[in-house]
Parts: sequence; C-alpha cells; structure tokens
Amino acid sequence: MSQEFVDVRILDNFYQTSSFFPMPVLLVSTLNESGTTNLGPYSLCFPYLVVPGGESHAMVLIARSDSNTAQNIVRTKVCSLNFIPDKKKYMKNCVLLGYPGETTEEKMKNSIFTLRPSTRSGPPPEGLSKFPDIVNEAFQIFECTWDERHPLQPIPSSQSSHLVLSIDKIIMKNKWKDSLLKGKGFPRVPIDYGYRDNIQFWFTKHSKPYSLPVPSTKEAPVEVVQYACDRFDPDIKWEKAACAKIVKVPNIFLKRVIKGVVTAAKEEGITVITPEFMDKVQDKRSSEK
Ligand SMILES: Cc1cc2nc3c(=O)[nH]c(=O)nc-3n(C[C@H](O)[C@H](O)[C@H](O)COP(=O)(O)O)c2cc1C
Repeated sequence: MSQEFVDVRILDNFYQTSSFFPMPVLLVSTLNESGTTNLGPYSLCFPYLVVPGGESHAMVLIARSDSNTAQNIVRTKVCSLNFIPDKKKYMKNCVLLGYPGETTEEKMKNSIFTLRPSTRSGPPPEGLSKFPDIVNEAFQIFECTWDERHPLQPIPSSQSSHLVLSIDKIIMKNKWKDSLLKGKGFPRVPIDYGYRDNIQFWFTKHSKPYSLPVPSTKEAPVEVVQYACDRFDPDIKWEKAACAKIVKVPNIFLKRVIKGVVTAAKEEGITVITPEFMDKVQDKRSSEK
C-alpha cells in the first residue's frame, strides 16, 4: 500500500506544501532608497534564459511584490545573488532576515553576514552612488541587472513579482573556481525544502556528490563522427584520433562542437585537426570558464 500513488491536493505554494521540492538558498543584496544594502533570503531563483553561444544568461526570481528586494530591484535595476554555504548558523540568520515586513534598518541590525563592496567595474546606474554590496561568506555571487527586455507579465491575482535578472558577472572564491576547472570538489550547498508546515523552514545538506559516466552504449562509432567532421568544412581535415575525442558528445550537440573546433582552427590557420589541437581547444575553454 505504501508504494501506491495517491492524490495530493494542490495548495498555494504547492512547491513547499504539496510536494518535496529541493531549492537553493541565496541572499539577494539590493540597495534601499537611502543607498543601504538590504539582504533578503530567497529560494525561488533558477536559471531562466539559457541561450547557446549567446548574449543572454539570466535567472528568474520570484519575490513578494512588496518585499524590500522586489521594490529595490524595480527601482534600482541591480542586485547580487549571494550563494551562501550550508552552515546552520547561516540558515538560522536567513530565517531571521526572512521575517516579512521589516525595513532594511530594522533587519540588517540582526545580520551576521559581512558586506563588502561589489567587484563590478564601471559606474553604477544613474542615481545610485554604488552597486549593492556583496556577502563575503558567499562561495559564489551572480551580479545581475533586471532585464526589462524580457518582461514577465504581472499575474493580477499574484502578489509576487517574477523578475528576469540578466547575469552581468559571476565571481567565485578562488578555491571553488579551481574545483570547477578541475571538475573535482563541490562547496557545501544548502538545500531548502521550504516553509512546509507554516511553523518552520526545513533545510538539509547534500551528501557527497558522485559522478556517472555518459553511457558507453550511447557513444557514436568514430567513423560516424569522422564522417560528420569531414563534411562540415572541406578545407579542414580531421585525424581519426581527433574525432575519437568527441565520440561521447550527444548527436544533437555534435555539429555545435565541430563548429567550435573548426572556428578555432581557422583562427589559428590550421588545416588538419589533430588530437593535440583538440586538447588545446579544450584547455582554452576550461581556462576561459
Ligand atoms: C530560506 C528562505 C527562502 C525564502 N524564499 C523566498 C522566495 O523564494 N520568494 C519570496 O517571495 N520569499 C521568500 N522568502 C521569504 C522572504 O525572505 C521574506 O519575504 C523577506 O521578508 C524578504 O526580505 P526583503 O523584504 O528584505 O526582501 C524566503 C525566506 C527564507 C527564510
């Protein structure tokens, strides 16, 4: 019986009241009217615009329209998304900072987080003396601008604003950038299960991440990849061992990967793609991350 599916009533805030839905925890920093940095804890914040090769990288934030955060973003256009590591004292302080209805002055008295100036270059938007401060305890920060090119229509019955936040800059503690480039190691990221029972917020740590290889049954035979490589551009030849480096790339992405390598080869005046050149392109990509 316990393995049978049963209906669950879809309540308001279904993600926390009618389901188990893991969410990130971030502190959104914004500037209030007197130019002081406000920290608001938020979980409904996810990648929204993911445009290949493109100029558009954006998050969507769902925030109560009368929150300091939503009002500050709409007025100043800028904010930072500070991803804080999982420590109980940080989560405890987030719950305190998440108490609705307090002014920036009232709530920031209770903040245990250390603010420091934004790392953005260039002048802040008109009318602002600076960008919002960032949180020193964060392991990574997205510095963002509200993107009005993608306006999400306000939903009349919703008391929330759906804000598209274009990512201007990502910064990360050096240690974690190293892990990112080596593909080894993860910060301790908190997981929020929400304000489940109208009494308490629930958080958990994630366990040690593990990797799973791309199934070898999905690998394309090297001859099939070579055929796709050879016909992409008649001026560029591919060694078989170079093609072997991309047999794990899913077919739908293969053309894009080949195009990237061919573009890099042409930039360097190379006409034969070797496995060493593939490694060089890969290394360059990693160091650009
Ligand atoms: C962990 C956590 C996550 C939260 N996530 C959200 C959210 O995604 N959207 C939202 O509107 N409120 C969320 N809240 C409630 C806000 O933090 C609360 O409305 C707070 O008053 C916002 O602060 P501000 O007015 O300074 O922006 C969350 C609270 C906590 C503690």
